[in-house]
Amino acid sequence: MNAAIRAAVRTALYHGLEVMGIERGFAGLIDGDAHQMDRSSVGGIINRGGTVLKTARSEEFKTKEGRVKAAENLKRFLIDGLILIGGDGTYRGGYALHEEHGIPCVGIPGTIDNDIGGTRYTIGFDTAVNTALEALDRIRDTAASHDRLFLIEVMGRVCGAIALQVGVAGGAEGILVPETQTDIDELCRRLERGLKVGKSSSIVVIAEGDEAGGAFKIRDAILEKTSFSDIRVSVLGHLQRGGSPTAIDRVIASRMAAEAVHCLLNKPDRCKMVGVDAHSMVIKDIQAAWEEPVELSDELISLNKILAT
Ligand code: F6P
Repeated sequence: MNAAIRAAVRTALYHGLEVMGIERGFAGLIDGDAHQMDRSSVGGIINRGGTVLKTARSEEFKTKEGRVKAAENLKRFLIDGLILIGGDGTYRGGYALHEEHGIPCVGIPGTIDNDIGGTRYTIGFDTAVNTALEALDRIRDTAASHDRLFLIEVMGRVCGAIALQVGVAGGAEGILVPETQTDIDELCRRLERGLKVGKSSSIVVIAEGDEAGGAFKIRDAILEKTSFSDIRVSVLGHLQRGGSPTAIDRVIASRMAAEAVHCLLNKPDRCKMVGVDAHSMVIKDIQAAWEEPVELSDELISLNKILAT
């Protein structure tokens, strides 16, 4: 997100615009927590995780009254357009602000989950995947040394994109994602088959939103249905959300933010989002974020079934 903030500020300044940074998202907008940003205010942040502008959830912004306060502050600060970085909730907030108060908004998809419609990619996904992959590789050392089965739970809300990518890259013996039906019996048979052919350790990657109910529940089911007696669970949790961003994240974030500034300049009065389609930036109506389906690659799901057996 910092790479996006940096690129938005510097692209806007390049085009002769003034830029205000709003702290803590919609919560800060309601409180009038904004300050002028210049080139140096975004220096030295491209390599830092998180967001220098901070972030917060705002229940008040979900109300009409909250959005009236936000719109008043935008007028007070002479802000003509908003760039929003976030997920579905952020976009819906921007859409409401545009519908009710005519504020031009452009959304930049920022979430590790890669679960936003209208774009193939969201900022943070690649970093989270690489962080989780590094953890998996380390865990595999222990799994191999102790002849153990490990269940690794990764984030992603109701989307299995992180799990699929990490599982394939890490050579996981099983990947459970909410987008496909989880068959615990089939997983157990696969793991037992692995034992029979001499596999002494295995790793199963589980998306936190998988319908089978989380890694601990799945461990209990495997213990009950198989001969495995030594199973360890590792829930990676929030460590996937921090750390220095990968080159891919930094470059895409920079491109998206520059595109967002151009969009505000070229299409004022609109409510749009920036996305990535294959290798190019695309501009879409902001509703694409929740109206377009988010799909996992069937090819990758099938490939893992072949590689893991
Ligand atoms: O949406 C990003 C995400 O990290 C999800 O993957 C996860 O389910 C959720 O946020 C965790 O939210 P919180 O930090 O509020 O616990």
